[in-house]
Amino acid sequence: MSVQEKNITFAYWVPNVSGGLVVSNIEQRTDWSYDYNVRLAQAAEKSGFDYALTQIRFTAGYNAENQHESVSFSHGILAKTEKLKVIAAILPGPWKPALAAKQLATIDHLTNGRIAINVVSGWFRGEFDAIGEEWPEHDQRYARSEEFIRSLKGVWTQDNFSFDGKYYQFKDYTLSPKPVQKPHIEIFQGGSSRAARDMASRVSDWYFTNGNTPAELKKQIDDIREKAKANNHQVKIGVNAFIIARDTEEEAQAVLQAIIDNANTEAVNAFGDATREAGASTKEGEGNWAKSTFEDLVQYNDGFKTNLIGTPQQIAERIVELKSVGVDLVLSGFLHFIEEVEYFGEKVLPLVRELEAQQQQVVQAKSA
Ligand SMILES: Cc1cc2nc3c(=O)[nH]c(=O)nc-3n(C[C@H](O)[C@H](O)[C@H](O)COP(=O)(O)O)c2cc1C
Repeated sequence: MSVQEKNITFAYWVPNVSGGLVVSNIEQRTDWSYDYNVRLAQAAEKSGFDYALTQIRFTAGYNAENQHESVSFSHGILAKTEKLKVIAAILPGPWKPALAAKQLATIDHLTNGRIAINVVSGWFRGEFDAIGEEWPEHDQRYARSEEFIRSLKGVWTQDNFSFDGKYYQFKDYTLSPKPVQKPHIEIFQGGSSRAARDMASRVSDWYFTNGNTPAELKKQIDDIREKAKANNHQVKIGVNAFIIARDTEEEAQAVLQAIIDNANTEAVNAFGDATREAGASTKEGEGNWAKSTFEDLVQYNDGFKTNLIGTPQQIAERIVELKSVGVDLVLSGFLHFIEEVEYFGEKVLPLVRELEAQQQQVVQAKSA
């Protein structure tokens, strides 16, 4: 099925961290508690979202005071929902593949095949130092993540699995039971540096990248898809966007301006400094945050850059444009999560589906 034929998928960021998705002192009707997140997940699955993504951070980041652990929090959300898939962030280093494979296979059984993972390779050195974890240099972190993913896939799909890597080893190991999902639990990855893209083109099911313009995203996507093709591998693409949908464009722009005007300058600058250990530290100098301005960093995955800010019609048109450059999934963040997820489901999503249907008719007419 071509990109144009398949409907675009929607995911949302689970606010399992206090302070929401923007590093700003603006009022946010969003809460990191379990109770709020259960209500949000139930609203999201009713509103047409297929996935939710939890975040992992061992030390508070972006000036946030509290953050729940990703795998157990994901399981908590899955227990209270019916259709939603929850993607738990996992950090190789603190997580070892043997434990991750076993733990996730069990959650897959408990939730009828609705857990997924996002393998994050790490960019925050202070976090690794604080918990006594080794800090391999940038590309080695991706080499380790690739071994991590190959190990999980091996353990989840084979009996008597053996692997002799630099970071991980398995000898004649059989996991039982295997996960419910076949061929295995879905594997997402975060990151957009050269090393991250190359890993995606070899092993990941999904590649998640920071917010960006359609033209910049197209460059990344073409690069990954070309390499993936050469490796006989298929990878789907998810892009981050901080969505501000309001009845008028002026209202939406005013909200964006208020978020930026109320930015926590010290926390944004500290975050900007920490991101220098991401793709910017490589010889290519490419990757997430390598070109981010102060304003971009106020949403910590460059979500304003995707520009899903405006009226429902404007946003729907831009989503369809993202699809036309090869995006399969929009990962969304919101200021006031529950109410905005509901507004999105009611006002924006039906327009996206209408535009997709129109495009579909054009494609069919051309091929008739
Ligand atoms: C959608 C998305 C979600 C991410 N979630 C996390 C996370 O929960 N915890 C974390 O430490 N890093 C997270 N990351 C960071 C990436 O895994 C990676 O370390 C970072 O983007 C640097 O990438 P680069 O070195 O390829 O530029 C996320 C990245 C993206 C794009």
